Amino acid sequence: MSLKDTIDIKRLPKHIAIIMDGNGRWAKEQGQDRLFGHFHGVESVRNIVEGSAELGIEYLTLYAFSTENWDRPEYEVSGLMELLVDTIRKEVPTLNKNNIRLHVIGDMGMLPDSAKRELNEALAETSANTGLNLVMALSYSSRWELVNAVKNIAKDVEAGKLASTDISQETLQQYLSTSDFPDPELMIRTSGEYRISNFLLYQLAYAELYFTNTRWPDFRKENLYEAIIDFQGRERRFGKTGDQIQQQDEIAHS
Ligand code: IPE
Ligand code: IPE
Ligand code: MG
Repeated sequence: MSLKDTIDIKRLPKHIAIIMDGNGRWAKEQGQDRLFGHFHGVESVRNIVEGSAELGIEYLTLYAFSTENWDRPEYEVSGLMELLVDTIRKEVPTLNKNNIRLHVIGDMGMLPDSAKRELNEALAETSANTGLNLVMALSYSSRWELVNAVKNIAKDVEAGKLASTDISQETLQQYLSTSDFPDPELMIRTSGEYRISNFLLYQLAYAELYFTNTRWPDFRKENLYEAIIDFQGRERRFGKTGDQIQQQDEIAHS
């Protein structure tokens, strides 16, 4: 039996989020330039998007560029931006063929105008697709997103559109850039780093975290299957006791 066959298709995570890390070290380990790692990382993106769509995952969020990544050397930032936007544009026919809808979250104001235009075109051209939702986190940081949400809530309170007493967790959720997506159930980080790096801080509240030493350019469908199988072996308690969860499961299966 292949690894894929051991996945319980009825208990797939609806939303998987991935911190694609380790491109630079992967390249350096081979005596290459960091950008070489980013180029190879694109192959992993294709493979994982394809693998997720084949399984029937509904949402896949990929952390491609953080707000903090703007502070890298200019040469790497411009090379990486060009690669990201170029790839997204070139992949549109494949996305359409596979019924994949593209979304982008992040501070688009930081992107050059040409990149914004190309992204908007790609968003429009895939907007009718109804299969996998591919969310690219580009120039994204969770603290930026939260501050932005708070500003917009304050504006609506000032304008009388919202009463401060009506602000709930749902309200905040509606002002986040992920308002259209359910929270990730599984978060994967590659390359052996054990941190969140300003990614979906609010949305990951109850995500199962999976860390692997595999560098992103080496990450393939089989690695994704391993992460999903690991996820399916966990007991998600949401504050309750293990006994309560087992009782719930028994009732659900009776
Ligand atoms: C992840 O790889 C890609 C981005 C952050 C854009 P890195 O470029 O962070 O690679 P390492 O962590 O330096 O190896
Ligand atoms: C996080 O990776 C951002 C992305 C993968 C896009 P980094 O490599 O930038 O994170 P730190 O700096 O090691 O925490
Ligand atoms: Mg890194």
